[in-house]
Amino acid sequence: MAINSTGLRPGQGAGEGNNRSNAPLPVDVLEAMSTTSLRCVECSAVYPAVVAGQPVPSPRYRCECGGVLDVEMPFCLPKQQSHYSREDFDTKSFELDAATDNDSAPSAGAAWRQLFDERAANPPIWSIGTDKMLHDSSGVWRYRELLLPAPEQYVISRPEGNTSLYPVGIENCGSGRSGHRQIGLYAGLERFFLKHEGENPTGSFKDRGMTVGVTMANMLGARAVACASTGNTSASLASYAAQAGMRGIVFLPAGKVAGGKLSQTLAYGATTVQIEGDFDDAMRLVEQVCNEMQIYLLNSLNPFRVEGQKAIGFEILQQLDWQAPDWVVLPAGNLGNTSAIGKAFRQAYQLGLISHLPRIASIQAAGANPFYQSFMQGFSQRYSVHAETVATAIKIGDPVSFSRARRVIEECDGIVEQVTDQEILAAKVVIDRAGIGCEPASAATLAGVRNLVARGVIQRDERVVGILTGNLLKDGQTGIPQQTDGVVVEATLDAVRKVLS
Ligand code: F0G
Repeated sequence: MAINSTGLRPGQGAGEGNNRSNAPLPVDVLEAMSTTSLRCVECSAVYPAVVAGQPVPSPRYRCECGGVLDVEMPFCLPKQQSHYSREDFDTKSFELDAATDNDSAPSAGAAWRQLFDERAANPPIWSIGTDKMLHDSSGVWRYRELLLPAPEQYVISRPEGNTSLYPVGIENCGSGRSGHRQIGLYAGLERFFLKHEGENPTGSFKDRGMTVGVTMANMLGARAVACASTGNTSASLASYAAQAGMRGIVFLPAGKVAGGKLSQTLAYGATTVQIEGDFDDAMRLVEQVCNEMQIYLLNSLNPFRVEGQKAIGFEILQQLDWQAPDWVVLPAGNLGNTSAIGKAFRQAYQLGLISHLPRIASIQAAGANPFYQSFMQGFSQRYSVHAETVATAIKIGDPVSFSRARRVIEECDGIVEQVTDQEILAAKVVIDRAGIGCEPASAATLAGVRNLVARGVIQRDERVVGILTGNLLKDGQTGIPQQTDGVVVEATLDAVRKVLS
């Protein structure tokens, strides 16, 4: 493994020492973050999220024991939500018991639901304060009390989220939408929704974590941010870093990133380092480089990225009028998203926003299936594999968020499934031909749902939400017909008639 000639070496390029401000953390940041802490997923050790002092200590991404960290903070309703008794909401939380319906939840969660519904209902009007407009209309910052207590002036938002939830089941797809019904027929589900995260600003779900991660970087005075990526995280980081005026640095597995993602990353101006190796090599390297060169790391190893991605879960619940679905199904690679969505559902349940926990099904490509293998052994062992799959976004053999995701699957009675490349490509054709479209990794969702319904794990009449993680345009090659010669015709009516008859 080597950094190629266009890349960075310690002490060069990014300007070691200049990658973050040496000024002490601002008082408003210290105050806002004073009740936020980081807990180790392995040994439960707790660290403060930020520490006062000069020089500013390096951000912490791992516990002393090597385990990954999880953000913890108290949830407090804003003062104006006072027509409900605050005591009802600030202190109350519910025991997590997936098997039991949370009967007292609806009243306790009412103030939170009202807060989020009011924000979602406000049309963005530019004559009001820009910051407020951005925050309320973002499908991430609408839920800010549950994500990151950032003072408004630090928030870096496009805004993101507010992605479509397409009804595509046999029963719920609505009249006149026979194309979308094909997806329900393929899955074998009556009530099925697809949540299209490819409709985010840079075309993938990564923007939800990135807006929170880059906001955190901004609060910490970072001047350079970095990640390893199979392509979507890099495009997102490049965009948000550019917006914040920070240097973006991305590590990509050379020759293994879909063209659309690479083009975005370069266009947004990130320093793009292609590693002679795979994603797992790039991931190991970026962590070392960030620690050594004081660059702020924005992979999902960074617990604040995971917090932002929770917003997918909250938005699904809100779009379903806070009626939790039976299942949520998503593709799984580095396992940040499985961790985030599971955490969102757990917290939504504890706050009384919903009355039961949805079950989560994480779908891996059969050639990149370490989480599936571990699940099949009852999680008694952790696996890593040499990953190989046509779905390059999830071509990951040693997922960073393994422990976080394991906890999620265990607590929601979830499942991990694998699908072959052929099944992924077949499902992608169905989604594309329905007029919705997605990148290959996203189609693992539909392939997984189809298998789980066929095996009777998901019942035909259960309410299921599948997540499409990336836009069709991200990968213009894989699984898309490239041969167009057959329809090049003379510019005459006769020639066109012959082709269309
Ligand atoms: N779908 C797409 C389109 C992705 O880009 C990714 C991950 C996943 C699914 C899997 O999500 O890693 O949270 O389990 N892409 C990362 C990247 C690795 O670098 O863009 P996960």
